[in-house]
Amino acid sequence: MAESKLTGDVFYPPEEIIRHAHARDWGTMAAAAEKDLEGFWAKEANELHWFEHWEKVLDESKKPFYQWFVGGKTNIAYNCLDRHTATARRNKLALMWEGEKGEFRSFSYFALRREVCRFANILRSLGVQKGDRVTIYMGRIPELPIAMLACARIGAIHSVVYGGFTVEALAERIDDSQSKVLITCDGAYQRGKVVPLKQIADEALQRAATVESVLVVRRTGEPVNMEQGRDMWYHELMALPIAGNSCHIETMDAEDPLFLLYTSGTTGKPKAILHTHGGYMVGTYTTLKYVFDIHDADRYWCAADPGWITGHSYIVYGPLLNGATSFMYEGAPTYPYPNRWWSMIEKYGINILYTAPTAIRGLMRFGEAWPNRYDLSSLRLLGSVGEPINPEAWKWYHRVIGKGKCPIMDTWWQTETGMFMITPFPSVPLKPGSGTRPFPGVKMDIYNEEGKPVGIDEEGFLVITTPWPAMMRTIYKDPERYVNQYWSKYPGAYLTGDSAKRDVDGYFWVIGRVDDVLKVSGYRLGTAEIESALVSHPAVAEAAAIGLPHEVKGNAIHAYVILKTGIEKHDRLEEELRNHVAHEMGPIAKPETIQFVDSLPKTRSGKIMRRVLKARALGQEPKDLSTLEE
Ligand code: WTA
Repeated sequence: MAESKLTGDVFYPPEEIIRHAHARDWGTMAAAAEKDLEGFWAKEANELHWFEHWEKVLDESKKPFYQWFVGGKTNIAYNCLDRHTATARRNKLALMWEGEKGEFRSFSYFALRREVCRFANILRSLGVQKGDRVTIYMGRIPELPIAMLACARIGAIHSVVYGGFTVEALAERIDDSQSKVLITCDGAYQRGKVVPLKQIADEALQRAATVESVLVVRRTGEPVNMEQGRDMWYHELMALPIAGNSCHIETMDAEDPLFLLYTSGTTGKPKAILHTHGGYMVGTYTTLKYVFDIHDADRYWCAADPGWITGHSYIVYGPLLNGATSFMYEGAPTYPYPNRWWSMIEKYGINILYTAPTAIRGLMRFGEAWPNRYDLSSLRLLGSVGEPINPEAWKWYHRVIGKGKCPIMDTWWQTETGMFMITPFPSVPLKPGSGTRPFPGVKMDIYNEEGKPVGIDEEGFLVITTPWPAMMRTIYKDPERYVNQYWSKYPGAYLTGDSAKRDVDGYFWVIGRVDDVLKVSGYRLGTAEIESALVSHPAVAEAAAIGLPHEVKGNAIHAYVILKTGIEKHDRLEEELRNHVAHEMGPIAKPETIQFVDSLPKTRSGKIMRRVLKARALGQEPKDLSTLEE
């Protein structure tokens, strides 16, 4: 493609960015991957350590249950830590962390490996074995990645539950995964306040019975209830002689599960997406290396939460696989003032910043004076993820934060894909709002209802038509749902749940979800979860939740509620219901407004037609009402 011919608003990367990049020529790489997909991924996989080499790169015989690096033996934790401690990188910083109150902690690769080994020994001594599930429910503190890596080291399957979730969300996830062990902390700091995680966990454990041991990291020092025989302090365990500095590492099959991560689906309860040691490792390693152009001197900051896929792939695994220095910040971007992020970029000399459009829009509101007070010249690349970035926010980010010289990697991907799928490279021309094209070796398309590719600039269903190494392998305990939800609408194609367009230059423009998934401040929530939290309140008979456009959050939740007969609506009821959702699900799920109604629009088969509610709320005419019940 002749770059000079690109249409629309185009930003060309600076020469020195291209010169610096691992991949200067996207086209050659994409062509190589197109010609030999298995060879492309095998070359990347060979940069990592395998205890035993694979026999086959890709096995499609049981598709859509694809298998990668079949017969290969490895362990992702070995590649994250031991591979580096065997080299001069042992003294390099693996993790840098700043607490909301300003404390600083850091771990070299050597030190991080030691902590992980010690904690892995503790987990083993508590009876955790290969294949066992461990739930991790914490704030953004270093012990969270330590716990994840310790699980991986001994072959246990971690299930991290975001620390912003609360009782019912946690209980459901513990119960579904049948976790034996819960790792949590006394509390987490958020905007100067303490979120009582241990107390929430205690309440959740009354609803989920499988947990035998609770390991508690002390973060806030606030008093917590410790149940004898079940609850133990992390620091006390870590001081025991049994927590030796070395720990036998489990040999994992490439296809052995690494983690479960619950995410909201089209309907019903959140589902556990399952990722593996081999393919996920190769996918996250490769994508991060090329897209954020990781070099040894870099200080890289992904400002997501480790409790979501972005944190799993690109705070913890991807950066450590690349031997990078990953920075993690505990608190809110504007605490105590809107300069917080910019001051940390200057203070630590951050080179790469990866965040979400909602954070950019939120910081943009405070004006340029805040970032302009800091030296942000260390920045080389910027990134965006989680929802479409509006061109206004893109341009502000580019101009004010990146000073016009830092390309923005707008990465489209999902919990299910494990790795970047549609993404720029530092060397490609950018258009604000487009993630450019699929990663080399990844084929994507946009289909109409009948499964035919749509024309240029036409909207349709975004699908993926090649397997990729970091793809989810299944929904834990529910392979049927995996097939139905992702692979049944169009034979041979993975359905993303998003709608998109492609322009004349082949650039993809993702528009948003076409199912009942909501992106609120970049967080992924299901209407079903919000509705079920509402219905669990004794006053509520039925509920429907929709997302409506919001300037900062992208979408805001609005709910409609039918009260049980005999319940009188009173002044405080709306507030009570909103708080109830925050208590059961988490503050991120709290509806902006609740409207009390007498009926909800439904199909003849009784399904709530949320799109009708949404159209009405937006003052539009709802399209196609043929299925609406009288
Ligand atoms: C949306 C987050 C537009 C999309 C990594 C997808 C995006 C969902 C982008 C997955 C982007 C993510 N541009 N939309 N760059 N990145 N999305 O599982 O709707 O939390 O389906 O994974 O986020 O959300 P999830």
